[in-house]
Amino acid sequence: MNARDASAVGAALTRTDAAAKVAGEAKYSAEFRVEGLCHAVMARSTIPRGRIVRIDVEAVRRMPGVVLVLTHHNAQKLPQKGRAAVKPPAGREMSLLQDDAVRYNGEPIAVVVAETLEQATDAASHLRIEYAREAAALDFGKAKADAYAPKQAGPSGKPDKAWGDADGALKGAEVTVDHVYTTPMEHHNPMEPHGTIARWEGERLTLWDATQYVFGVKETVAKTLGMPEEDIRVLCPYTGGGFGCKGSTWSHVVLAAMASKACGRPVKLILERPQMFGPVGGRPQTEQHVVLGARRDGTLLAIRHHVISHTSQFEDFTEPSAQPTRELYACANADTMHRLAKLDVGTPTFQRAPGESSGTFALESAMDELAVALGMDPVELRLKNHADTVPSSGKPWSSKKLRECYADAARRFGWSRRNPTPRSMREGHWLVGWGMATATYPAHKMPAKASAKLMPDGIVVVRSGTQDLGTGTYTIMTQIAADALGMPVSKVRFELGDTTFPKAPVSGGSMTACSVGPAVLKACQDLRAKLDAGRGDNEGQGESPPGPGKEEEKTHGERSFGATFVEVRVDEDLGIVRVPRIVATYSVGRLLNEKTGLSQLQGGLVWGVGMALTEESILDTRDGRIVNGNLAEYHVPVNADIGSIEVGVVDEDDTEFNPLGARGIGEIGITGVTAAIANAVCHATGKRIRDLPITLDKLLRV
Ligand code: MOS
Repeated sequence: MNARDASAVGAALTRTDAAAKVAGEAKYSAEFRVEGLCHAVMARSTIPRGRIVRIDVEAVRRMPGVVLVLTHHNAQKLPQKGRAAVKPPAGREMSLLQDDAVRYNGEPIAVVVAETLEQATDAASHLRIEYAREAAALDFGKAKADAYAPKQAGPSGKPDKAWGDADGALKGAEVTVDHVYTTPMEHHNPMEPHGTIARWEGERLTLWDATQYVFGVKETVAKTLGMPEEDIRVLCPYTGGGFGCKGSTWSHVVLAAMASKACGRPVKLILERPQMFGPVGGRPQTEQHVVLGARRDGTLLAIRHHVISHTSQFEDFTEPSAQPTRELYACANADTMHRLAKLDVGTPTFQRAPGESSGTFALESAMDELAVALGMDPVELRLKNHADTVPSSGKPWSSKKLRECYADAARRFGWSRRNPTPRSMREGHWLVGWGMATATYPAHKMPAKASAKLMPDGIVVVRSGTQDLGTGTYTIMTQIAADALGMPVSKVRFELGDTTFPKAPVSGGSMTACSVGPAVLKACQDLRAKLDAGRGDNEGQGESPPGPGKEEEKTHGERSFGATFVEVRVDEDLGIVRVPRIVATYSVGRLLNEKTGLSQLQGGLVWGVGMALTEESILDTRDGRIVNGNLAEYHVPVNADIGSIEVGVVDEDDTEFNPLGARGIGEIGITGVTAAIANAVCHATGKRIRDLPITLDKLLRV
């Protein structure tokens, strides 16, 4: 039997780790008790660019409980001097106290270690630092003038991609829409901030780290410190949300190891909430110029999507916002481009649906503007330009049920009752608007390994060095294993988050289920075959193949889709926007667990409400500091901000993509929804807001 015939996969099984989490028994990285532990705090720069002239550490060294003050004067010299020793996602340019340079405001420039967290925090605040300040680039508007082409856009995409003749086709278009859309700098704020415990035993290092990638941490730390990989073990049984910021190994991880080595004791270094704004990435701001040319009947003749996003002075990160435009609609002529503008800030990074979330805001807002210009229903316009094959190559999709998504979500939402005229619906002083947009995210997978072993007590222990970000990895792997073994889920224990386990990729790009899942399936099938054959050797091994990595080598387009419909209410006098109702249907292959799966999609939609209406990191262009770097002023939706969300998936089985028939679901939920909200706001008020977030000041401005 394989997993496809049986009952556990797909069921709405409650998380296998639910009881442990509720009881407080699930230990997150910063919660491990380690003998002799002391506490480290990162001190950060207060200027955006320049040199450290003097750090007065003597007074601080004598403060109560202080064990160590680490600065560029006494930090160990590293072979790579803090330069990226490993490629992203795992490896990044770090700040490891190798010189006196300050590259952004809030950069780690010293580490203070003390007996207690309070003593370390107090001591770090007393460090007196003199700087020689230099002029800094902090204005995106100005930096844009020197925008340049990055080597790549996203993990594998080229910065520029074009086909046909967009210029020529735009000249012949009967209707054209031509606008600039912007999205602000944003920062991930998982409930669990980053945190690391480092412990040395001789030359061997153990790290408990809040991460999306235990093997990435191991490789990066080994190369950065110049030590053998086999001397490092990384543990992370639970991750309290990641969303991309924990996909890379940032400075604090290596600093914890350096500080522990220097003081000869285990060290815990956790980031304070304000430290989440700068040294651990975030979504870069984007400026996106979209031009659509169409015939009167709605046929798209040309799409242009040019993106500029910011990066740091010392590392390129590109928000690949034009990626969805390359694959969403059938169009014979396209011209897409990514450029970078350098600022003196920390390097941005992958943030939930990098490129696809910011990019669908621009593209799907523009499609709505085109529908209005044509006097055509927005759903009809999208169906008219539905991409039956991959637009640039003509290759078939592994599986795609987007048409069914539009139909299902429209029916459940009641879209046919919509009056297209703006300001045509109201309830008292609330203007009511209905909008929709397409959601999309690529399907990724990478090589992964797993093992399965029957224990004397009858339990099968299945292992893979993957991560559970709160998404349900423990649960779905247990379900996959149970079906493959022909056993109940209660007889399976899945273990993860340990580099002594079989190797697994980063839990990013929505690829854990489809990378690790097939490896678990094979390991359990292998174990079952061995047991059936009566073999004493009872450990099963499974490996999932990578599949072709390069776009040119792929035989199929691999991508998920969805349709999101939104109702908004806008206070006519005050400009307050509420989102009482969202209905969305997704084409994401087979859902491996109905409960955790729908919950993840719903979580993505909730974040989309935040991205649309509240989230924005405000950079002070004088000092390069994030003005609202805390959760009191960086607003994310709370329960009271969220109304009814009805999520569904269409019946689908994508065995072309992998034997489980699933595609990833971690990121698609946040795509499309921001545009659906902007489109609904325009329907409610007649005002088109092209700059996120849609705050009341923008709506009240005439
Ligand atoms: Mo996701 S932004 O690749 O963790």
